[in-house]
Amino acid sequence: MCGIFGCVLKDEKAAPVIHAALKRLEYRGYDSVGEATVSGGKIWIKKDQGKIDDVHKTRNLDDLPGNIGIGHTRWATHGAPLEVNAHPHVDCTGELAVIHNGIIENFDELRTELESRGHVFKSKTDTEVIPHLIEETMDNNPTLGLANAVLETVKKLQGSYSIAAISSKEPDKIVCARNESPLVLGVKDQDIYFSSDIPAFLPLTNKAIVVDDGELIILSLGKVEIKKIADGSVVPREPKIIEWSPEMAVKQGYPHFMIKEIHEQPQCLRNTLRVQEHYADLMSTFLDRARDVYLVACGTSYHACLAASYMFSKLAFLPTFPIIASEFIEQSGKSVNIDSTILAVSQSGETADTLASVNAARQRAATILGLTNAIGSTLTRVSRVYIGQQSGPEIGVAATKTFTSQLSVMAQLALRLAKKRGKVSQDEMDFLAEKLMKLPDIVEEIILKQEEKTKQIAKKYKDAKTFFFLGRGISTATAFEGRLKLMEIAYVPAIAFPAGESKHGPISLIEPDFPVVFICAKDETHKTLIGNIMEMKARGASIIALIEEGDEAIKKLADDYIEVPKGIPEVLSPIPYVVPLQMLAYYMAIERGCNPDKPRNLAKSVTVK
Ligand code: AGP
Repeated sequence: MCGIFGCVLKDEKAAPVIHAALKRLEYRGYDSVGEATVSGGKIWIKKDQGKIDDVHKTRNLDDLPGNIGIGHTRWATHGAPLEVNAHPHVDCTGELAVIHNGIIENFDELRTELESRGHVFKSKTDTEVIPHLIEETMDNNPTLGLANAVLETVKKLQGSYSIAAISSKEPDKIVCARNESPLVLGVKDQDIYFSSDIPAFLPLTNKAIVVDDGELIILSLGKVEIKKIADGSVVPREPKIIEWSPEMAVKQGYPHFMIKEIHEQPQCLRNTLRVQEHYADLMSTFLDRARDVYLVACGTSYHACLAASYMFSKLAFLPTFPIIASEFIEQSGKSVNIDSTILAVSQSGETADTLASVNAARQRAATILGLTNAIGSTLTRVSRVYIGQQSGPEIGVAATKTFTSQLSVMAQLALRLAKKRGKVSQDEMDFLAEKLMKLPDIVEEIILKQEEKTKQIAKKYKDAKTFFFLGRGISTATAFEGRLKLMEIAYVPAIAFPAGESKHGPISLIEPDFPVVFICAKDETHKTLIGNIMEMKARGASIIALIEEGDEAIKKLADDYIEVPKGIPEVLSPIPYVVPLQMLAYYMAIERGCNPDKPRNLAKSVTVK
């Protein structure tokens, strides 16, 4: 996730307006920043790695000439956060500049083809193929013009994008295109703006036009043209008045970042399906060759590791040790050696306990693999191979979208490994891959259909003193994560166990009306889990069950239930099943008057005011 902005202005210089707008978009990415303007028959560019304020101090982002320009604030997906990878990117001539938010899946092939035809690349980004493709299209047909060249170019792109291009040959316009990444226009008299989010231009205008997927936009002074990419036909669309306050706009109308990020999960999951093949392959090779594999993380990331240990075992027959990072050195430090592989999972890539484990393991010559949301973080620097999970910045303290993204990446790794090891049949592989592809839609459906229900359940149980979360098999990880969310956001003491373990002590806590949440994915453990529900019910517990649609056996036993669509394979079940638990924690916090974005005693390294 990155932030893009640009403007065509009548009287003002573009650069200071772009700078101020990027500052308002910094929550979308903050590892590098750049601007390009067009003036005097030339493209002018300033860009660098670092936060906007720091880059401005050294480079002065306000003194580019011209009334037309584009700007970008980056959250790295391809290529480290370095000046060379910061946007805008240019073609071979420097007459064309492009910014991009999204992921170009086929950039590798496109880059190889372009290089074979003499194009010279400077960065490691997927974006850089775009200016070169536009350049080539215009060279091949000099009368085509920038807008048509962009239109032809985007037809060659696979993946997600919101792009904007300017050219010194056509200095009166900006051409944008959108597919699966947000793009919205702002209109104020003759001045026209585009951005990935409304807050960027809200202080300037409240008249907005939302751009749809598959549309190309040509912006010039006082004029907005929208065309369909498929056939070039013109789409008429009037601006709408946005009633949001600036604070609401940053959260896109949601009351809190946490619920916004819960709702972002379908899109994040689509992004994680675009994990770079090359690195996923490399990582699965390292996992395959390791004598022992440790999955090391803290908090929510540890729960992702716990779930992943079931995935690796069930799909690829690979035993792994999921270990809480703060215990790693004590528990396993001495067993690690040159044949060990550590897969460290950390959203931020900066968690001290995780990095301490990694350092200890490096000193014993182990191989370090990283899964993180922050390219350029310490974890990416110390990893032999790392994968960026593509969730975009996480502003809420409670990890939600980053958890489901981590699970999706590790499920893909487990599948790759299974294939490499010949452990699953091709039919089963195809079946699981298809199910993985459908998860974004399934999560979308769960949010749509079950949010109101979780709200009601939260209302009913808001005064509960304690909660129990139980699951069997891989659902144990889901139970642990549901418990963590409820505790950290709503301050409800909660306990989680593998359901089979509950009768070895924890069950003594149960008294009438004690709420017990069961995660009842339809798998081999289902029958046994019914037994566990009966045990709790017999002692007067109130049963809240997460069930597969139409699971009548459990419906009959539950006091309250939330349904998840049918047919989700067991190994993928934590991804959809955790979503109602995230919503439950959120609405419990609301009911109990807690601010879910600011849990006490917990902090985030980046905050947005
Ligand atoms: C969970 O909601 C918390 N934010 C916390 O448990 C978090 O997952 C943990 O601190 C690990 O952070 P990391 O993934 O950035 O390493």
